Amino acid sequence: MKQNETILIFDFGSQYTQLIARRIRENHIYSQIISCRTTAEDIRQIAPAGIILSGGPASVYQENAPVCDPGIFHLGIPVLGICYGMQLTTRLLGGNVQRGAAREYGKAVLKQEGVSALFLNVAPESTVWMSHGDKVTGLPAGFQRTAWSGNTEFAAMENTARRIYGIQFHPEVVHTEYGKTILKNFCFAVCHCSGEWNMTSFIETASEEIREKTAGQNVILGLSGGVDSSVAAALIHHAIGDNLTCIFVNNGLLRKNEAERVKELFGGTFHIPLRYVDASDLFLDRLSGVTEPERKRKIIGKTFVEVFDRAASGLENVVFLAQGTTYPDVIESISIDGNPSAIIKSHHNVGGLPETMKLKLLEPLSRLFKDEVRELGRQLGLPEEMVMRQPFPGPGLGVRILGEVKRENLNILRNADAIIVEEMKKAGLYYKVWQTFGVFLPIRSVGVMGDERTYDNVIAIRSVESQDGMTADWVKLPYELLDTISRRIVNEVKGVNRVVYDITSKPPSTIEWE
Ligand code: XMP
Repeated sequence: MKQNETILIFDFGSQYTQLIARRIRENHIYSQIISCRTTAEDIRQIAPAGIILSGGPASVYQENAPVCDPGIFHLGIPVLGICYGMQLTTRLLGGNVQRGAAREYGKAVLKQEGVSALFLNVAPESTVWMSHGDKVTGLPAGFQRTAWSGNTEFAAMENTARRIYGIQFHPEVVHTEYGKTILKNFCFAVCHCSGEWNMTSFIETASEEIREKTAGQNVILGLSGGVDSSVAAALIHHAIGDNLTCIFVNNGLLRKNEAERVKELFGGTFHIPLRYVDASDLFLDRLSGVTEPERKRKIIGKTFVEVFDRAASGLENVVFLAQGTTYPDVIESISIDGNPSAIIKSHHNVGGLPETMKLKLLEPLSRLFKDEVRELGRQLGLPEEMVMRQPFPGPGLGVRILGEVKRENLNILRNADAIIVEEMKKAGLYYKVWQTFGVFLPIRSVGVMGDERTYDNVIAIRSVESQDGMTADWVKLPYELLDTISRRIVNEVKGVNRVVYDITSKPPSTIEWE
């Protein structure tokens, strides 16, 4: 890979900025979203292969509208302005932008004019997605129009000598027919990237960075059993071997066989030093009599920190705390006014960072998207079952048992949940959906089994499709599958005589029941 083959994306607050980063990475080029306030001097030092200015909700005429350092146009680095990025480029380089009276929103037909490297392999007329208020009405000196649409006189512009490009539409969204091709053209035909960034090369550069940063000192990592912390552990272990110790806390709220599987995989197969702490009793005793969901969460979080802290303090010379923070966690924190590195939010999947520990943070996945983390896990030899795991909440089954968490109910839920997972896998559906799990309802209903009347608990099945957990649709699972799951739970799990299926989406419901 060429040195610094990175495309930097200046974030002006568009809801699509993350998508731009993803599209670039699909071409095996590393991309990074940075604050739009990054100085030209900093950019010069990084020496990226190209710069993209994202869209954004502001008008260039608005007071306090975000503006980038105009010096970036003089570095000789190719620049592509998208939507607001194009308007800003125009404004900063002396062209005209007119304040829009109405917003143009939706599909438009893009018509090319002349020949542009950006439009290689793009049909002369194609559909694009527009979403803008202001528009460019006069190009800066040295620029020419390369495309227009019915409502937009200057839909694309460029100054080939200076390698500065602007497009009014959004190439990153699927509604733009040749969007991927246009971004690809910018990367390869304009920025001359080689496209060799992949997870194999990432393992080597990331390992080198980990070794450099930790410099022979010890690292601890809280394994949660989830994808992110597992892949982080495998990567760090690859880099620094036994200078990494993992701590795995059994909070008594794990799924069936989960603790055994994690112990076996990390301690057994990978030989990563693992401290297994079974604190089930402590957690469950503290949860006794507690019914309010938020209080349950707080108790679980606080107890985790305590237990983790105690386990870690028994280790010598620990300087770093590793976490499986991923790129979306970091991006959420890049505000257009803030300093991104200063406000990276702390990851809470493992229950919260013990602040009193005064450890330095090591977050080797903080530049990767979830699917890249999964691919990295595969490359590091983690089994498919681990890298494709569904999200599991930090408070575990504690929020899937409504009301008080009792040991006997945990057992019921574990067994019912294991049947749900097993049948979903058998039907080939488990890895196709976002989450599928059981919920224990502490209500009793009447049933009849054989000649006997029963008065037992209810298990609800929850199965949802989602991109990010923010919104979700319930999955239309086949009736036969629901039937099999229901029969098996009632027959095999003592204490359950009724199974129901949750058919609400989010919103208005949440994914978890508590
Ligand atoms: P909700 O229930 O808010 O869930 O629709 C959205 C996503 O977040 C997960 N979730 C949690 N994860 N700690 C976590 O680490 C929690 O307290 C928690 N609550 C919900 C949930 O499983 C879903 O994927």
